[in-house]
Amino acid sequence: MELRSVKEASVTGKRVILRAGLNVPVSDGRIVDDFRLSRAAQTIGYLAGQGARVIVLAHIGRSGESLRPVMEALGAHLPGVPLLFGGDDLAEDQHAADSLKDGEVLVLENMRRFSGEEENDTSLSQALAALGDIFVNDAFADSHRAHASIVGVAKLLPSYAGLLMFDEVEHLSPALSPEHPSLAIIGGAKFETKEPLMERLVEHYDRVCVGGAIVNDFLKAKGYEVGVSLVSEKGPSAALLAHPRIELPSDIVVAGEGPARTTTLDGARAHDRIVDAGHETGERWTSYIHEAKFVLMNGPLGIYERGFNAETEVLAHAIAKSGAHAVVGGGDTIAAIQKTNFDPARVFLSTGGGAMLQFLTDGTLPGLEALTK
Ligand code: 3PG
Repeated sequence: MELRSVKEASVTGKRVILRAGLNVPVSDGRIVDDFRLSRAAQTIGYLAGQGARVIVLAHIGRSGESLRPVMEALGAHLPGVPLLFGGDDLAEDQHAADSLKDGEVLVLENMRRFSGEEENDTSLSQALAALGDIFVNDAFADSHRAHASIVGVAKLLPSYAGLLMFDEVEHLSPALSPEHPSLAIIGGAKFETKEPLMERLVEHYDRVCVGGAIVNDFLKAKGYEVGVSLVSEKGPSAALLAHPRIELPSDIVVAGEGPARTTTLDGARAHDRIVDAGHETGERWTSYIHEAKFVLMNGPLGIYERGFNAETEVLAHAIAKSGAHAVVGGGDTIAAIQKTNFDPARVFLSTGGGAMLQFLTDGTLPGLEALTK
């Protein structure tokens, strides 16, 4: 993919519109996980250091939350960089952008408060484009959305990829057709969001191990009791169910009445909830990781946020210890890897959730396409 890097642009004294990926989990006004902020800070710091006048566009959540607490947390990753907070009034934002001095950064309010953002409305794109001279998209994690601040503005100004965007594409591209032996571990929930990716993975990976709540969908379709476990609206196709490269756990942990217990796939009862893969599975998949040259992992094996994190962490440690190149994505999976002593030169942590899944399925994203046209 031919992307022009922001390093090719002359930015000093220019107003640079930067679409950044700042959508982080916030609870009671506190940032719960600032991984995306630490990654987004690199391009912002670079531009400010070059003397650009930076106008940051970003979104948070789906209910019009304010980006202000995020901007404050971002400041901790950008010592010495003057950060100003704009609003959601375009006329005022235009004035603030025009008043910026070299090296200053203006963060606008949540893009999703601007009418027309999600519809990629032309007049909003034009108004956003008028804020600056050039556009840089660094929001890999948001680039599966064809929104005005991602796709619309890119079509109206000279456009470049930010440092994080470049890094993501460079590290995720080898995962499209990995070196063999290759292993994919796909966990988490919502089978329907992962089905297109799984269909592609079985074509390109030697083994595709399935974990998380997606296992419940496979077990249910195979006629096993899954009790009160989370299941998706749509289950796997007959082709995926019978695919020889797909491997399910051989044991599961269930929680029902009484303490959680490990059992065989046919051991869940009507009141049980499947909460993790069993340790026999964790050990066998660990041996696969050690045999592999390339490992892709997205999504946890268990209900991570409720403390059923044991086998996800077993695999995270195996990835950190093995010699395999690895690409890891999804909040819980990243959290598990971050607890290990992994080598960042070998293990890449993607900021993308849905964007990572879509990039690995299609090899591109609407936000990337807009940069290459
Ligand atoms: C994400 O967190 O996956 C991205 O920031 C996109 O957010 P969205 O799913 O609300 O569009």
